[in-house]
Amino acid sequence: MIDTPSQPQTATAKDPAKGHETIVVLDFGGQFAMLIARRVRELNTYCELLPFDVSSERIKGLDVRGIILSGGPNSVYDPDAPLAPDWVWESGLPVLGICYGMQLMAHQLGGKVGPGIEREFGPAMVQREHSAPLLDGLPGEFEVWMSHGDRLDAVPPGFTSYARSGNSPFAVMADLERGYYGLQFHPEVVHTPRGKDILRNFVQGVCGAEGTWTAGNFIEESIEAIRAQVGSAGVICGLSGGVDSAVAAALVHRAIGDQLTCIFVDNGLLRAGEAEEVVTTFRRNMHINLVHVEAEREFLSQLAEVTNPETKRVRIGNTFVRLFEREARAIEDARFLCQGTLYPDVIESGSHGKGASTIKTHHNVGGLPADMKLGLVEPLRYLFKDEVRRIGEALGLPEEMVWRHPFPGPGLAIRCIGEVTKEKLDILRLADRVVMDEIRDAGYYRDIWQSFAVLTDTKTVGVMGDFRTYGYAVAIRAVVADDAMTADWARLPHELLARISNRIVNEVHGVNRVVYDITPKPPGTIEWE
Ligand code: XMP
Repeated sequence: MIDTPSQPQTATAKDPAKGHETIVVLDFGGQFAMLIARRVRELNTYCELLPFDVSSERIKGLDVRGIILSGGPNSVYDPDAPLAPDWVWESGLPVLGICYGMQLMAHQLGGKVGPGIEREFGPAMVQREHSAPLLDGLPGEFEVWMSHGDRLDAVPPGFTSYARSGNSPFAVMADLERGYYGLQFHPEVVHTPRGKDILRNFVQGVCGAEGTWTAGNFIEESIEAIRAQVGSAGVICGLSGGVDSAVAAALVHRAIGDQLTCIFVDNGLLRAGEAEEVVTTFRRNMHINLVHVEAEREFLSQLAEVTNPETKRVRIGNTFVRLFEREARAIEDARFLCQGTLYPDVIESGSHGKGASTIKTHHNVGGLPADMKLGLVEPLRYLFKDEVRRIGEALGLPEEMVWRHPFPGPGLAIRCIGEVTKEKLDILRLADRVVMDEIRDAGYYRDIWQSFAVLTDTKTVGVMGDFRTYGYAVAIRAVVADDAMTADWARLPHELLARISNRIVNEVHGVNRVVYDITPKPPGTIEWE
């Protein structure tokens, strides 16, 4: 298949990110760097995650109010330890160093960092010794999450220690005059319960950000930008049933109305009820021009006798592009393609974002041949997934669609192990619906990153009443994750699993056994194929 590479938007009237107070997070390779940026955004302040060695040119045009140095795997004494660039210290802006970022601050400003007696990892208590703006409203002792080897032995000139932990005499340090702060622990993770207050104190208290990064502002500014970009031209958008393309289309429709045409290639590989929901929401409720291509037969014939997961992906991808292109060419004056690209796809930093995982060839809706020469409209390229959901809600999309778990482009084909047939897909759809209904009813849907049924290619013996049965084994997969790079199996209550199992073997003809997948990622992947 041919991919349209993600490109910066062409002429925009006003970049929706540019007018807002911004916090810059410099990424030193820590696993939580992206999480820091998300936490700052939750405080309604725009935040960019940039590589640690970014030049000051890159932030020109942004209204930067403060800088955060992330954690990272290095020791400041490594010969190739990444350092904060000089412009950070010359900018006059407040700086918050977290973990490695704190050690770096100490190292670069004349303090002393030494190896910790032992690596400190996990929960710890921190005792406050003096008041500091960063700790406003926090109790004298609070719980934090530590993950560091080195520790501070002496703070740099001008700094004072504000709190200690069992292992670190300097758990919080600050030079109030220059607005420099260092935290030995991670305020961005949920295991630091008051971490959000600390980040709020930095972003709002120390940096003075007022919180203008809101769904309402974003929608208004995006509408202006989209109108300026596309003028009176037509825009096409591929809908997949997923949240990203749905929100992107709804936003573009709000901006340019009938100039937008959505194309929904229904591949017959969606979950129960999803295709109908797309058509009802977009055509009937939102009055968006929608081309509904019913192509189940075409996709299934391409998948006949295919068992290799990658071949399935390639066949599905190629079929999709062929059909999408045919429809797209028929739309007059279409000069732009709208895509639901998100911020993590365009992040420039080395350790996050683009291309990090090439274990499976993922195909995304919207790949088009280069000769179509369509400009790209990517209104969500500034946003994290949770922000996209908030925009979706503000645009009035149904809750079901906005909160839907991620769903792979090749759909149920890669959850139907072995050959994909209509009969097996129907069995899988019924089993999957039971999983969804039960997890929703039990109130776990939003806590879970993804949950679904897999139809294994294994038949097993069972007994029902007086009869021996020989039917498929269905596997249930439910994972918790912050992003799809790593995941852990969800510790669902046994009663819930029991209900799912009972209902599937009773209600889904052809299935007589249910198993629960207890493999984390790594070493497993989320999908089975
Ligand atoms: P894995 O299975 O690699 O999946 O742990 C990580 C995330 O990607 C989704 N996924 C896909 N998405 N096309 C997609 O658009 C694909 O071929 C594909 N394979 C996996 C998966 O559902 C999870 O969210």
